[in-house]
Amino acid sequence: MNDFLELCKARQSCRGFSEQPVEHDKLARCVEAGRLTHSGCNAQPWSFVVVESQNMVSQIASCGQQLKQNSWLGTAKAFIIVLEEHAILSPTISCFIDSQYFAKGDIGAATAYICLEAAAQGLGTCIIGIYDRKKICELLNIPAEKQFGSVIALGYPSNALIREKKRKAFEDIVRFV
Ligand SMILES: Cc1cc2nc3c(=O)[nH]c(=O)nc-3n(C[C@H](O)[C@H](O)[C@H](O)COP(=O)(O)O)c2cc1C
Repeated sequence: MNDFLELCKARQSCRGFSEQPVEHDKLARCVEAGRLTHSGCNAQPWSFVVVESQNMVSQIASCGQQLKQNSWLGTAKAFIIVLEEHAILSPTISCFIDSQYFAKGDIGAATAYICLEAAAQGLGTCIIGIYDRKKICELLNIPAEKQFGSVIALGYPSNALIREKKRKAFEDIVRFV
């Protein structure tokens, strides 16, 4: 897809994946997009765990199904977990702000890049907000104190329909001056 706005319209939260496995190379491209994301002071406060072994995928899926609304998660074929890492800021900046000051925003951007690259490759994604972080840490050998940025479920959508976006009206939230 060449038109970026069209890609933004095509990217949508996918809540049901087909049986088709996701190619390793496609997952690698998604995290490469995350790696290339901009960040405050280029601090790159992230690392990525790609879960592609199907045994582990189903165990991670079960960590995110506390909410009944997320029961479809069992159809996910992969996960990308974005972890928050220590941001290294230059002394001239870090004397004004806490080192993690930009980290949440940076991770949000990296998460968006990952989801958009996935959409460009025909993959569906859904960010999962509620999950058993402790259990995921145990399963993936992640230090218990590690902050999670985002947990992204991936797979090929079982339904190709692109829904109309529900968004605030352009004129209600944009002001040109
Ligand atoms: C931080 C975050 C957490 C989310 N958690 C969930 C979730 O647990 N389950 C779910 O089905 N969707 C979840 N979503 C998806 C949002 O509901 C979705 O992005 C929003 O409704 C807009 O729809 P769209 O992504 O299809 O454009 C989450 C999105 C974000 C950014």
